[in-house]
Amino acid sequence: MGREKVIVLDFGGQYNQLVARRVRECNVYCEIYSYKTDLEKIKEMNPKGIILTGGPNSCYEEGAPTYSRELFELGIPVLGLCYGAQLMSLVLGGNVEKADNREYGKTVVYVDRSSALFEGVGNKTDEVKGISHADHNSDNYETVCWMSHFDYISKLAPGFEIVAHTVDCPVAAAQDLSRKLYAIQFHPEVLHTLQGKEILYNFVRNICDCCGDWRMDSFVESSVKAIREKVGDGKVLLALSGGVDSSVAAGLLSRAIGKQLTCVFVDHGLLRKNEGDEVEAVFGPEGDFDLNFIRVNAQERYYSKLAGVNEPERKRKIIGEEFIRVFEEEAKKIGAVDYLAQGTIYPDVVESGLGGESAVIKSHHNVGGLPDFVDFKEIIEPLRDLFKDEVRKAGLELGIPERLVFRQPFPGPGLGIRIIGEVTADKVRIVQDADAIYREEVDKAIAEYKEANGKEPDWMPNQYFAALTNMQSVGVMGDERTYDYAVVVRAVKTIDFMTAEASNIPFEVLQKVMSRTINEVRGVNRVFYDLTSKPPGTIEME
Ligand code: XMP
Repeated sequence: MGREKVIVLDFGGQYNQLVARRVRECNVYCEIYSYKTDLEKIKEMNPKGIILTGGPNSCYEEGAPTYSRELFELGIPVLGLCYGAQLMSLVLGGNVEKADNREYGKTVVYVDRSSALFEGVGNKTDEVKGISHADHNSDNYETVCWMSHFDYISKLAPGFEIVAHTVDCPVAAAQDLSRKLYAIQFHPEVLHTLQGKEILYNFVRNICDCCGDWRMDSFVESSVKAIREKVGDGKVLLALSGGVDSSVAAGLLSRAIGKQLTCVFVDHGLLRKNEGDEVEAVFGPEGDFDLNFIRVNAQERYYSKLAGVNEPERKRKIIGEEFIRVFEEEAKKIGAVDYLAQGTIYPDVVESGLGGESAVIKSHHNVGGLPDFVDFKEIIEPLRDLFKDEVRKAGLELGIPERLVFRQPFPGPGLGIRIIGEVTADKVRIVQDADAIYREEVDKAIAEYKEANGKEPDWMPNQYFAALTNMQSVGVMGDERTYDYAVVVRAVKTIDFMTAEASNIPFEVLQKVMSRTINEVRGVNRVFYDLTSKPPGTIEME
């Protein structure tokens, strides 16, 4: 209650989470709801602004997602983006038609009229250079935006005026000042729109008049208070994996309720090199957090369950089931608890269909199934409202070390899905050592590049790791014939982890990795670099 917020009504576009993230970057809390959300519910939420997203449909077609006129009569500022802009125009009496050509990609926008939405935007001529607009003479100021549409607003709704256009699109932006309604055809949320962030800032901070009270320091403070109120003197149990989400959840709960929290950390023997000890160093008795920490060293149990198993899905299943078994045993020792805590974050909520419209159900949930095996009254999800970057900021606020907060995504089944074929203790050792060398060398190269150039390299990967093929081949070391394994190293650039491409890691870095791996890791005589993008590959190698 009381927190100012802007809501995003989701019409099925692909960038909808991005819209909400950008709004939050303006320190304004923002939530995503389906366009099917009832008007009464919206009124109850009392948002300070409403943003209508893009979407794949044509708003004039029968059955296309829509909203009633009353939405625009609440007196709340509304910003329509792409489909949302067209829909707003159509519902309010304008017209939308299909253009002959699709307008797609970076496009120069000419701002024709002063508007609170474009305050401080435009005339970055250097950045505008290189984009085709030679045939257009204009004295107006210009900016570059990202367009992706076939349909366009062919007639404005009564009360609206054009604010901006492009060579191909007569209404790139329009406004009705008296009703505080704004329509923009392009996507301010994607980074290709050079000043998209300013435009969204203008909307939420100036037009909606939000004061910007969404900050991670106050989030931590208010969550701590809310957790204390909710939990009282109850007991909370958390499965800590050492990943970002469960670590931040642990930090937050520890700050709120101290020893009423018990964290169970299962070392399944499929973690990266030294990772188990690192997690223990932070959250264990020698660490900085006040909580009960239980480490279960279950390596041998996992290895014996995995012996002789080659099939990747089977391995995943065994690892998942064994986790539940181990956790269940620990939970029995602890006895009944009041709450089971989970590190669910906002994209999980949206993607499981509870938030927006563009729902995809995540197939792998690492702690899925746990609730059935633990004796508890309620689930508590302290990070449910946060995007990943906000979870990280909250983690830093809580004093969780940077290397944990900014660590790469690591799959729940761990190295079990980075070893092709049967998992054995020896193969785990090989992949752990090779991966540690690879990450060390890549990290060093990134740091050196940053030091020399003051920015990240173009090849900066979003995820990079080593995996072990099940292939042994003949090699020669000294005067000896070898018959050893081939390690694969992989690095990908990706935004959403749904698609990815191989990152162009400098050859000399790869060469160094190759020679160090073969020299330092017993049992390896070849190193391959995986060039495959996703699709057709996946990011992991299983
Ligand atoms: P794939 O291999 O499906 O991976 O292209 C996409 C992203 O998801 C991560 N991944 C997982 N994360 N549990 C997780 O928490 C899993 O079972 C799992 N499988 C894959 C992978 O590391 C990549 O970031």
